[in-house]
Formats: sequence, structure tokens, C-alpha cells
Amino acid sequence: MPAPASVRPVEGSYAISPDTRIRVSGSDRSARPARRVGDYLAGLLRPSTAYRLPVTTRSGDDGIRLRLTPDAAGARKLGEEGYRLKVTGRAITLSARSSAGLFHGVQTLRQLLPTSVERTTRQAGPWRVSRGTITDVPRYAWRGAMLDVSRHFFGVDKVKRYIDQLALYKINTLHLHLSDDQGWRIAIDSWPRLTTYGGSTQVGGGPGGYYTKDDYREIVSYAASRELTVVPEIDMPGHTNAALASYAELNCDGVAPPLYTGTEVGFSSLCVPKEVTYDFVDDVIRELAALTPGPYLHIGGDEAHSTSHEDYVAFMDRVQPVVAKYGKTVVGWHQLTGAHPAKGAIAQYWGTDGSEKEVAEAAKAGTRLVLSPANRAYLDMKYDANTPLGQSWAGYVEAKQSYDWDPGTYIKDAPASSVLGVEAPLWTETLETSSHIEYMAFPRLPGIAELGWAPASAHNWDEYKVRVAAQGPRWDALGIEYYHSPQIPWPND
Ligand code: ACM
Repeated sequence: MPAPASVRPVEGSYAISPDTRIRVSGSDRSARPARRVGDYLAGLLRPSTAYRLPVTTRSGDDGIRLRLTPDAAGARKLGEEGYRLKVTGRAITLSARSSAGLFHGVQTLRQLLPTSVERTTRQAGPWRVSRGTITDVPRYAWRGAMLDVSRHFFGVDKVKRYIDQLALYKINTLHLHLSDDQGWRIAIDSWPRLTTYGGSTQVGGGPGGYYTKDDYREIVSYAASRELTVVPEIDMPGHTNAALASYAELNCDGVAPPLYTGTEVGFSSLCVPKEVTYDFVDDVIRELAALTPGPYLHIGGDEAHSTSHEDYVAFMDRVQPVVAKYGKTVVGWHQLTGAHPAKGAIAQYWGTDGSEKEVAEAAKAGTRLVLSPANRAYLDMKYDANTPLGQSWAGYVEAKQSYDWDPGTYIKDAPASSVLGVEAPLWTETLETSSHIEYMAFPRLPGIAELGWAPASAHNWDEYKVRVAAQGPRWDALGIEYYHSPQIPWPND
């Protein structure tokens, strides 16, 4: 999971043994990233195998070999993130052009081992991997997951735990929804009350919280170690009550509203005619862009029901160039296509049936699309009427409903080439713990990951449901309490 582009099985297997070495190689320039992935692999395998598994730069034709071969003949077709995994009786050889490719290949190798490899105490082997060759490249460059840390705050360790789960399925983009009506979660030095006051609560009135700049850097760095790029979102001009409550001058009437701990949407707006609004936006975007190594900055733009259309367009015309000024590419929810999306902007689609004409028109004019249809990709939708968590405004979203669609043709009349990828958002009005996150994300998240990675020709529910079922014992070993969808033939149910 996700289904590889090409698998050629061969009879027999390779067994990881107490003497196995992890050999990392490449030119001097590339040996260091290969070693980083080798160390990560050793860290995965050592607790359950109890083998030493030394990571060495000494070459050899046995063991687990990680090779960075950016320039090798034939490597080019592996692209930025692809890999080749060749297993013979004597060695496992993983080749890629980048550390991302090696890392994704390690996730595949992990899934070829018994599920007990995921446990953190010594397990009985043997640790056999079937022979053959997997050559694998992703269908889409953007394979995302979003976590709403505003409605309920999730600390650094919980975000890291989710990052590790995303990495298992080759997700490469972590979108953090850092601000909303209920809380502002990222420290901005020039507007300190955003966090000290605006971050002091959450849905239900709990204490909330926020990331210091060092916390955020730690998340970005951990994500990078799992080959994920962080996309920070500051939602504007709506979904801004936490900011409006923190600074009276941001309000058109100069009066700060109270903090908000409910779950309504669409009642707040930055004051579009006031000049201080743009001082605020410039400061926030400048500080956030400086903290963020990735190329994207998400400016929200959804559900601006308290902003007139004219003001919305004027606001977006003014704010998008600020993102560019600080060197980032604009991402917005697809309502941005009803304004004037900047050249190169990305629109994140969260409608349901793909019929919105302005989205298709923008796509034809060059706006790229990330698809998160709410009735397919929203991980916070209830699975069925009995799901204790989540919402149902986009309907119930069972495993098959979530998986069984094609990102390439979902938006009517949008060119397939405009689709940059897919993303699975997780809104947290009803979610407070890692267990809650995991119950909603599993098994749907791997399905969205599969839509982002696997070739369209591999799309087949009846085959997919058997493959996803086989992940259940792995999630058990990892301590992930997943939803036992009755649509999936789980081996232990
Ligand atoms: C959204 O669900 N309001 C993007």
C-alpha cells in the first residue's frame, strides 16, 4: 500500500539475519542522505529483530544496500520520488535518485516483512522478504494530509506521531491548519497576543495551546526527516475570530469580539478596507515564510460568508502578492477561483461533485488543483450513522466511497494535467486525542494515499480492499486503533 507501479515476483526469498549489514553508498555528495535513510531503516528493524544491523559505507554484494544513483543510466525514469527495490537470495538492493525515493522504498520494504516487525520488543523471525523487483513512481507530486490544530490543539509529539503514520503510505505533504475562529496556533513575534490570548482556548473551552517558533521548526524538521513538506495555512479573511479577538484594531468597528469555543463557521472577517489589516497580513506572512523551507503558503479563503464578494476579491488581490513577495507559492481553498488566482496559484478543491464551473475555468487558465472532495477525502466525516466522532454535513463516507473515485477526471472540464494531486484533510471540531485522529484516518487515509501514488490502471476496489485489509495487523502492531469497516475483509475480525 499504495500499489506499486510495477512488481515482478521471483520464486524464493531473502532472509534478514543477525549478520545483515545495511550498506549505504553513493558519491561523496550523496552518501550522507543515504546514510540518513539507512539509519532510519535500522531504527525500524532493530527493536523487533534484535539484530545489530550496522549501517556501513563499506561496499559489498550482500545485505541491504541503499544506493543513491541520481545520474545512472535508466535512473531518470524513477523521477524525484521513485525507487527500484530488487530482492535476490543474497541481497536487497534499493536504488533511487533522491533520499525521498530511498525513503519511500524503505516503506515498501517494511510492508514486505511480517507485521510483527512493527513491534517495539523482540519478536520471533524469520524475517523473510520475497524475491523479485519492484519499480515504482508516484502518479502525483502532491500527496497530502491536513491536520486542523486550531479547533483542538495537538502538541508536537502528536503531530510527529501522525507524520510517522503518513510516511508509511508515502504521503509527502503535511498541511497544518494553524489558525481559525477557535485558536491561533503559531507564534508571530510582531503580534504576540495572537498566541498568548488568541491561542488560549479551543472548541469546548479547553486550554488550547500554540507552537513556539522552535516547536514549529521541530515539526518542519521531523517532517523533512520523513520526506514530508510542511504547508502552513493561515485562513483569511474569514475563520479569523481568534485574531480579531486578540487585536481590537483588526475589527472594522474597533471592538474585539470574545474568544470563541463553538463550532459555527462563517461569522468572522478581517476588515478589508482598513490599512492595518495589510500590515498584519504582511507581518504574519513574512514571519511564517521565514520559518518555512517549503515552497507553499496556504491562505485559506474558504467560507468567507461575512465578507462581501467585492471585498473578498479586493482582499485576495492584495494578499496574494504578499505571499509572492516572501518567496512562496499561494495555495487557497477553491473559493479563490471565484476571485483572481495569482499566476502559479494552487486551488484546493473541497466541494463534492466537481461541478463548479469557476474551478474548471481557473484550471484551464493555469491554476493547479489539489483534490480534497469533502464526500471522499474528508477524514472527519462519519463513516456511518453510528460513528461516535466526526461530522456528516458532506454525508457518511465509508471506506469504498472514500477510495472509489478518480482525481484525474473528478472536476468536470478541468484538464487532467491541472491536477497536482490529492489531500486528505482532518478537521478536529470533535477530535481531541491521537486515538481520535487514528480512528478517523484509518482506513481512509491509505486509500487517499493510494489515489495519489498508484497508477490509475491499478484502481480496483475489490483488489484494494484485500490489500488494505492486510494492513490491519500492521496497525495493531503499531498501536493504531482503526475503524473496522465492514466493507473490508480484515483478517483478524
Ligand atoms: C472547508 O472545509 N471549509 C475548507
